[in-house]
Amino acid sequence: MPPLRLGIAGLGVASTLFLPGVEEYPHARIVAAADVRGSARDAFVARYGGHAHASVEALCADPDVDVVWIATPNQHHCAHAILAAEARKHVICTKPMALTVEECERMCEAAERNGVQLLCGQTWSMSPDVQAMWQVVRSGELGRLIAINTWLYTDWLLKPRVAEELDEALGGGVVYRHAPHLIDTVRLLGGGNVRSVRAMAGRWMAERPSTPGNFSAYLEFEDGTPATIVYNGYGYFDTSELTWGIGNRMYSEEERVAVRRALRGGTVDHEAAKEGMRFGAAASDATSTGSARSAQSVGTRAHIGWFGITVASCERGDVRQSPNGIYVYGDAGRREIPVIGGRGTGMLEMKEMYECLTAGTPIAHDGRWALATLEVGAAIVQSGAERREIMLRHQAGAH
Ligand SMILES: NC(=O)c1ccc[n+]([C@@H]2O[C@H](COP(=O)([O-])OP(=O)(O)OC[C@H]3O[C@@H](n4cnc5c(N)ncnc54)[C@H](O)[C@@H]3O)[C@@H](O)[C@H]2O)c1
Repeated sequence: MPPLRLGIAGLGVASTLFLPGVEEYPHARIVAAADVRGSARDAFVARYGGHAHASVEALCADPDVDVVWIATPNQHHCAHAILAAEARKHVICTKPMALTVEECERMCEAAERNGVQLLCGQTWSMSPDVQAMWQVVRSGELGRLIAINTWLYTDWLLKPRVAEELDEALGGGVVYRHAPHLIDTVRLLGGGNVRSVRAMAGRWMAERPSTPGNFSAYLEFEDGTPATIVYNGYGYFDTSELTWGIGNRMYSEEERVAVRRALRGGTVDHEAAKEGMRFGAAASDATSTGSARSAQSVGTRAHIGWFGITVASCERGDVRQSPNGIYVYGDAGRREIPVIGGRGTGMLEMKEMYECLTAGTPIAHDGRWALATLEVGAAIVQSGAERREIMLRHQAGAH
């Protein structure tokens, strides 16, 4: 099969993170894009040639495109994914899949109706480290899974944010924007099917008072396995202090002090700062230091970032990430399983799509999977608001 011809819908910050990975994948070619910003379209053509469209409709009608990657803002994911599916393009959608379970359902139905694949990517559960942890857990070598606990303290709230990123109704805030990484990871390790969620989210940054910035969640899987997710995005403590400096953050400690002061002083031009991180910005293209700045992978292995610290506990041992792969703790002590290769967002999604289309390998991060992750996120919000346990109805198993 010839390389997949990829079209990008939305040349924003997200695209600067996955385009380098797509470039490295030998069975994909970046041939087209759509963005409402002319500067981004010009930058795209300068870098990749191909076609740069002013609308996602035009991109979806482009006969040279096989796969459309939806990286527009959250509130457009549903409409843009359906446009692509109706045009018989395979779809990759960045996280979060959409704003509601109902939107996700419509996206899945559109893909199914049109016989195209729908892959929901750009979440950290696809990373080789997490996949390696899952292999150990499901192998049964440590006995039955008994608990999953994950923590991420990072600086999401300090970063340049445009209005829609701060508005929960548009999928803003940390539960919709960042939690999919952690929910996907926990669901993968636990087998996928979450029974219920009890959680509390907080809005404690005075400068961004309507935006959820932290949450603590207790998930229970159908088989009774418990999981906790603890997230704090206010940019004080940084979990990477506990993980050899490897983690997810944008700013150093000194920069956080300066950024917080600027936020409090009202001297940050968020639109301009965000623009400076997007594809085609003066300071940044897909490989420049500008986008590396937003790549958020820090630590000794620049090619692999982590989303905090995740420990999967089994009857006879624990599994967690290590500096070179994963640690497996068992009755005979601790051993390290090396995990070779980069995180590779962009490459990972293209590989999964290509193997599905050529070898029939089912997509693991498909629409039904991501719908279930969105349901958990929505339940975190609802549980906090109503101060009660939320039962789930749309879960999907890991495969
Ligand atoms: N920022 C990140 O680090 C990051 C990482 C992974 C995934 N994501 C996800 O990527 C998506 C976009 O986030 P972002 O931070 O890149 O935002 P962004 O604002 O930087 O990028 C969105 C891009 O879409 C374009 N756009 C907006 N409306 C459009 C329309 N109707 N038609 C065509 N183009 C349109 C904008 O001009 C912009 O270039 C979100 O779903 C987000 O959750 C973001």
